[in-house]
Amino acid sequence: MAASFEYEDSSTGGQKALPQRNPRRRSRLLLWAVGCTLLILALALGLGLGIGLKHRQGGTGSAASSSPSPIPSSTPSAVWLPQVDSSWQIVLDQALNIDDDNPTVEPDVDVFDIDMFLHQNSTTIANLHKLGKRVICYFSAGSYENDRPDSYRFQQSDLGDELSGWPGERWLNLSSPSVRDIMASRIEIASQMGCDAIDPDNVDGYQNDNRLDLTSDDSVEFVNFLVDTASQYKLAVGLKNAGDIIPDVLSRVHFAVNEQCAQFDNCGTFRPFIKAKKPVFHIEYPPSAPSSVSTTDSSDACTATGVSHFSTLMKTKNLDGWVQYCNGATANTNVFS
Ligand SMILES: *[C@@H]1O[C@H](CO)[C@@H](O)[C@H](O)[C@H]1NC(C)=O
Ligand SMILES: *[C@@H]1O[C@H](CO)[C@@H](O)[C@H](O)[C@H]1NC(C)=O
Repeated sequence: MAASFEYEDSSTGGQKALPQRNPRRRSRLLLWAVGCTLLILALALGLGLGIGLKHRQGGTGSAASSSPSPIPSSTPSAVWLPQVDSSWQIVLDQALNIDDDNPTVEPDVDVFDIDMFLHQNSTTIANLHKLGKRVICYFSAGSYENDRPDSYRFQQSDLGDELSGWPGERWLNLSSPSVRDIMASRIEIASQMGCDAIDPDNVDGYQNDNRLDLTSDDSVEFVNFLVDTASQYKLAVGLKNAGDIIPDVLSRVHFAVNEQCAQFDNCGTFRPFIKAKKPVFHIEYPPSAPSSVSTTDSSDACTATGVSHFSTLMKTKNLDGWVQYCNGATANTNVFS
């Protein structure tokens, strides 16, 4: 297929996304020995050389004036710029189980999106890097969860309504300096862990009942804050869903992570990313997954209007190790259970 990046109508794909949530589940945290700073350093050097010639995108905005803390020595020399048509896998409900002595991972894709806190203090990211994979670290940036290591830091006054369907998880005031401090700390953790990018979830509170009067402008400012902070550590940043604010932040973020644009018939909204040569990591949750995804479901996910050159995969809503791709291939990433 010719690799033409046609710009499809973002205007007619304008059916508003329903309130979307990442349906991941959490499980036990893993306590692992401290990771491999030296390896990360070596990788950072190698990767820096590899992409040093590419020109930086999206870094022209104002830099945050106050760094949360000194930048660790593992900071790479350039932001990773993920490519359109990258292959990927996303697993958020468990920690990946990779053998330190003989690291292997399935499927053999370019990029893994994994829960940040589930892999803190583990060797997983170093192992993925050894295997030539890039790593996107997921955390919730716009919601409070009661079971994260830093949950105690949130102030009651910054918490809004519960997220529909997620007892105990609540929308956050995106303008609160306290919330931003906590997110700056999370980004610093991502950097120390050696993540190549962050996948900050729940930046679309404005399209949900939140009791905080969140607006799309609040989300634009918040995403800019996240990018400013991440850029100090040379971390790439994805925009999760939040189709309405694409025109405002496209130049700053490095990729999109989208859930269910085929199901909601609004994949065209995300085409500006492809046009800008930034990948759209696209997840659909077919009703027939995982036993055997019907050809109808697969076709709905993979041939929906606007999905050309999206990095599409099919998952179950708990985002476990199972995945199916548009070519029919399936895989089960090994996770701790
Ligand atoms: C990782 O280690 C740090 C430092 O010991 C600790 O504060 C943090 O809670 C640990 N994280 C997890 C998820 O165990
Ligand atoms: C959110 O935080 C900002 C900045 O601290 C504050 O001005 C605003 O009143 C807060 N909003 C709500 C609904 O508490």
